[in-house]
Amino acid sequence: MKLMLDTANLEAIRLYQDFLPLSGVTTNPSIIKKEGRIDFFAHLRQIRQIIGRDQSLHVQVIALTAQEMLAEADAVLDKVDRDVYIKVPVTAEGLKVIKLLRKSGVHTTATAVYSKMQAHLAIAAGADYVAPYYNRMENLNSDAAATIAAIADEIKRTASSAQILGASYKNIEQINRTLEAGGQAVTVAPELLEQALALPSVDQAVQAFRNDWFAVFGEEKTIADL
Ligand code: G3P
Repeated sequence: MKLMLDTANLEAIRLYQDFLPLSGVTTNPSIIKKEGRIDFFAHLRQIRQIIGRDQSLHVQVIALTAQEMLAEADAVLDKVDRDVYIKVPVTAEGLKVIKLLRKSGVHTTATAVYSKMQAHLAIAAGADYVAPYYNRMENLNSDAAATIAAIADEIKRTASSAQILGASYKNIEQINRTLEAGGQAVTVAPELLEQALALPSVDQAVQAFRNDWFAVFGEEKTIADL
């Protein structure tokens, strides 16, 4: 799987960058809001500096019309860099933007996807990533895993190069189901990743192994000390 961080928090990005095989960082206006009144473009450039050019940086537009979304995309591409994936909500205007950006060679991530048809249209428009909102779909009593499986089928059927980037997760099982349904990538908030790694039974097992080792070789003597 490709794992991305759904955050704009520089400290969290630095931290997870150190020990996880990250593929990128995704942001949206609500995520940016959590960082307070930042210097938007400078902050995004800092994220790029941390993750480098090999990872993808996804930045969302906020305008409602295609023309204004394109102006925002231009500003991001000019003031951050040309490799940024422009996140575009899949509305009628958004689909226009995805098509036009595709034509000009700009990467896009189709976002705010709640339905199969939205995803299918985004794939047809040429989006690089399609981001179905797992938890939000479940909140609407919609079968998120089935939706993702149908999107994966559509990608195969049309031999599209688009990839599913699952988003909006509130628990680890939702991530597992995304991958089992055929999702290639997920974007996860740092708080949830922390939970994924904080398993008391794993800590207990590690401690029990250490105790057995120390019982034979002496307290605090590690393999390197032998
Ligand atoms: O990347 C989109 C995602 O951040 C939406 O998540 O938690 O607002 O449903 P959430």
